[in-house]
Amino acid sequence: MHFKKQLAVAIGLFAVVAVSVAATLPQQQEPPKLVNIKVFPKNIPFRVLDHEMDIWSASLGVRCNFCHARNDQTGKMDFASDAKPEKTAARHMFQMTAKINKKFFGATKDTLGMVIASGVNCNTCHRGTAHPDPKIPEEHRGPGGPPPGAPAAPPSSGK
Ligand code: HEC
Ligand code: HEC
Repeated sequence: MHFKKQLAVAIGLFAVVAVSVAATLPQQQEPPKLVNIKVFPKNIPFRVLDHEMDIWSASLGVRCNFCHARNDQTGKMDFASDAKPEKTAARHMFQMTAKINKKFFGATKDTLGMVIASGVNCNTCHRGTAHPDPKIPEEHRGPGGPPPGAPAAPPSSGK
C-alpha cells in the first residue's frame, strides 16, 4: 500500500515535469522552403542540402557568402538569389562532378536521384581553396623543366 502511494506520487511528479518541459520546448519548426533548386533533386530535404552546403564551403575554404548574395534591403542572406556568378559556377561544377562519377566511376543514384559521390568530389580538386593551383610543384619537375606531357601553366587570371 505504502509502496503504491509512493509510486503514484512518483508518476504524478513525472507527469508534472514532463508537461512543463514540453511547454518550454520550442515549437517544432518547419524547415525553410527551397525555392530555386536547379541542379539538386527538386525534392531534396532541407537538412540534406544544408549538409551539402557545409561540405562545399569546407572544400573551397569559403563561407556561404562566397556564392550567396545578401539582400541590401533586409540585410539578410538571400540564399535563393542567383546574383553571384560563383553560385552559377558551383552549379556547373556540381554537374561536372556528377557526370564524371556517373560516366567514369560507375556511380549510381541514391533514392533522391543524386549521383552518389564515388571517384571525385569538390575537395578532390579544391583541397580547401576556391582556386586550385594548376602548377606542378617545383620538386616534381625535374631538371630541364616540366616532364613531357605536362600541361602548360595557364595565363594568370589576375584574381
Ligand atoms: C560554392 C558555392 C556555394 C557555397 C559556398 C554555399 N552555397 Fe548554398 N547554394 C549553392 C548553389 C549552387 C545552390 C543552388 C543549388 C541548385 O540549384 O540545385 C545553393 C542553394 C542553397 C540554398 C537553397 C536556396 C533556395 O531556396 O533555393 C540554401 C538555403 C543554401 N544554399 C544555404 C547555404 C549555406 C547556409 C551556406 C554556408 C554554410 C551555403 N549555402 C554555401 C552554392 C553554394
Ligand atoms: C576536376 C576538378 C574539380 C572538381 C571536381 C571541382 N572543381 Fe571547382 N574548380 C576547379 C577549377 C580548376 C576551377 C578554376 C579555379 C580558378 O578559377 O582559379 C574551379 C572553380 C570553381 C568555382 C569558381 C571560383 C571563382 O572564384 O570563380 C567554384 C564556385 C567551384 N569551382 C565550386 C566547386 C564545387 C562546389 C565543386 C563540387 C560540387 C567543385 N567545384 C568541383 C576544379 C574542380
